[in-house]
Amino acid sequence: MDKIVVHGGHRLSGSVKISGSKNSALPILAATLLTSEPCTISRVPDLSDIHYMLTILSELGCEVERASGVVKIRAEKILSQAPYDIVRKMRASVCVLGPLLGRQGEATVSLPGGCVIGDRPIDLHLRGFEALGAAVRVTGGDVKVLAPKLRGATISLRSKFGSTVLGTDNVMMAAVLADGVTIIDGAAEEPEVVDLANFLIAMGAKIEGAGTRKIIIEGVKELHGAEHEVIPDRIEAGTFLAAAAIAGDHVRLLRVNPLHLKAVIDPLVDAGFLIEANGNEISIRPGVKRRPLKLDTLPYPAFPTDMQAQMCALLATTEGISVVTENVFPHRFMHVAELKRMGADIDLQGATLVIKGVPQLSGAPVMASDLRASAALVLAGLQADGVTEVNRVYHIDRGYESIDEKLNGLGAQIERMKA
Ligand code: EPZ
Repeated sequence: MDKIVVHGGHRLSGSVKISGSKNSALPILAATLLTSEPCTISRVPDLSDIHYMLTILSELGCEVERASGVVKIRAEKILSQAPYDIVRKMRASVCVLGPLLGRQGEATVSLPGGCVIGDRPIDLHLRGFEALGAAVRVTGGDVKVLAPKLRGATISLRSKFGSTVLGTDNVMMAAVLADGVTIIDGAAEEPEVVDLANFLIAMGAKIEGAGTRKIIIEGVKELHGAEHEVIPDRIEAGTFLAAAAIAGDHVRLLRVNPLHLKAVIDPLVDAGFLIEANGNEISIRPGVKRRPLKLDTLPYPAFPTDMQAQMCALLATTEGISVVTENVFPHRFMHVAELKRMGADIDLQGATLVIKGVPQLSGAPVMASDLRASAALVLAGLQADGVTEVNRVYHIDRGYESIDEKLNGLGAQIERMKA
């Protein structure tokens, strides 16, 4: 297993190109199951999660070709059961359920287990499928969904945690070939849901309201192939903004969509950073004085849970008391114990962190656990005194394309070593 060794104290400056969105590419690749015609998806990031998805699609019978960031895929004749060992590794593979159900009238996927950020239920996905007329059975760790014909319905996907991103994606992908009109209330509003809807529309689907809480889908007989470029990864962009806030002088992010990052940019401005957004570029540099923050993670367009750990790494060395509450995944605190090993002063009270800023963290060997916690530890190491070793770096490679090379390109000193 590789580890990433971060030598602290090297300031960041210059520009970095942001990759295509992991959380947009994954459901879009799954959506190609909805047609027997070829599709071409570009700006697909080179990540292990993407590799898992392409493996699942190949095992389902798709012809898959990948050349750098472009994936050509054709689901001419497909099976309807995804292989367990991959579903176990990546929860997002549940998003093949909807397209398989829509295309074949049946789908079987192993139930995704929990993961380090907590229980990852799919009850809302299944409730959506049942509303469309499917029969759902859970046997031997698999969930089997059957529906000779799907009928449009009105479905609420609201949960006590707000909305569900992949649940909205899954129900939308099942509904595009159903008989009649489906209305999804309490839909997720994330830009990645909009990107999926735009791809489905390019395939001939009839969808209105993506990006709002209410999505209306009018079923069509069949979908055709399409080409699509994936939107920029707003969480990778946010991660680099946090890195620049921690250790940067003047850093520019290229090929981003600032409109997707308002809920990350606003708190960084409140924290005292000077940020300029124009076209597809964002630049950030330190202001006069840094200020502590009060942050609440909530579904889009509010502050994203996927940026919580990275902002904790910044607030750990921001003078004053910051308060961060995690409302989406109330156990998403794998980074806290590791940041405390580096000298952070953080008190966990239920789903709320009280962070007392310290002047500087000290480098230490730390353990990566989930994707965003791993990124947070690398960011913390940038300005820590000494060397920080982040072990189990495969977590970080799931969601960041060459993060060490990109940070080194900005002036960091990071090595990737065999652990
Ligand atoms: C997506 O996961 C993202 N993953 C996650 O990013 C992200 O953290 C999450 O949305 C929230 O924004 C992908 O898009 C591949 P949810 P998803 O369903 O769709 C509960 C990353 O780091 N819930 O929106 O699986 C759930 O437990 C990853 O890139 C139910 O109760 O998340 C959670 O508390 C991590 N029942 C909340 O809703 C359900 O049926 C939001 O989950 C579904 C979800």
